[in-house]
Amino acid sequence: MFAAPTVGFAQPPEFSQGFDAPDVFNPAGPNAESIQELFWVVIGICAVILALVGSAQIWFIAKYREKPDDDSEPPQIYGSRAIELAWTLAPLLTVTLLAVLVIATVIDLRADPPSTASQRVRVVGHQWWWEFNYPDHGFTTANELVIPVSEPDLAKPIYLQLESADVCHSFWVPRLAGKTDCIPGRTNSMWIQTSVPATYFGRCAEYCGTQHAKMLIRVDAVSQDEFDKWVAKQKSDAVSDDSVVAGRDRFMEMACMNCHAIRGTPAVGEFGPDLTHLMSRKTICAGLVENNRENLTRWINEPDDLKNGCRMPDMRLTEPDVKLIVDYLLTLE
Ligand code: CUA
Repeated sequence: MFAAPTVGFAQPPEFSQGFDAPDVFNPAGPNAESIQELFWVVIGICAVILALVGSAQIWFIAKYREKPDDDSEPPQIYGSRAIELAWTLAPLLTVTLLAVLVIATVIDLRADPPSTASQRVRVVGHQWWWEFNYPDHGFTTANELVIPVSEPDLAKPIYLQLESADVCHSFWVPRLAGKTDCIPGRTNSMWIQTSVPATYFGRCAEYCGTQHAKMLIRVDAVSQDEFDKWVAKQKSDAVSDDSVVAGRDRFMEMACMNCHAIRGTPAVGEFGPDLTHLMSRKTICAGLVENNRENLTRWINEPDDLKNGCRMPDMRLTEPDVKLIVDYLLTLE
């Protein structure tokens, strides 16, 4: 299911631990739980039908098999209102029951912002990364969504507005909720909630081009305290470190600033991820590899090496320029 990233890059620990499919059978929030409950109810109903039809079939095969000493013709029946009603009504009622259960769950899950929503996040799918904008706090980050966990007496649902910058994507973090598509020109919504602090993994669930498989999502669910600290940090402008002024100048002179924003500098591009607090993120390239000097250098040097066909161009920078720019990026805590 998941294409292994290019050999030779340090990968996030979850890859080396054989991480692959996030588990739909291990829900960590009310939203994913109701989907799982619906799943088992539907499986249960289908299992009863399978058992009834299967055993009837076996019984009929045994009872009406050809008997060597009997070549008489079986009774010929032309129409039976009772039987026809039965085989029309039984499936009709079953399908209606399934539809009612599914629609009730969908309405429950798609409820407009829960009145207690603790956070709003605008999620924008891009080829091939995720933009996370926190409108109540006025900052934007990428690929790693940080949310506060609910407390036993205080639910903290996070309300997501889903959009797309180019083609259809689908936001899917299986342990927290089902899939919701990000469709160009349209805003969809969903909510997630969990009371278990952990990192939840997800992926784009709608084929969106060559690097669809390398469009991962990390959701870090943290305590309210940690979340508040993180928000305060993200709201601040990028640090301005005089020791890397040469790298900052190179970043601004090259085309980098046309696509990337770094708050507090002239760089306001929106085509690529916001880099204001790049180093607060654990991974780069949408969750593909660890965020460190080695990977940043190789990514800038030859983006196609990591993510073939990606929208980040190879700027053909000289080695010293790449080093200066990476030095600068590494200060963006
Ligand atoms: Cu984005 Cu598939």
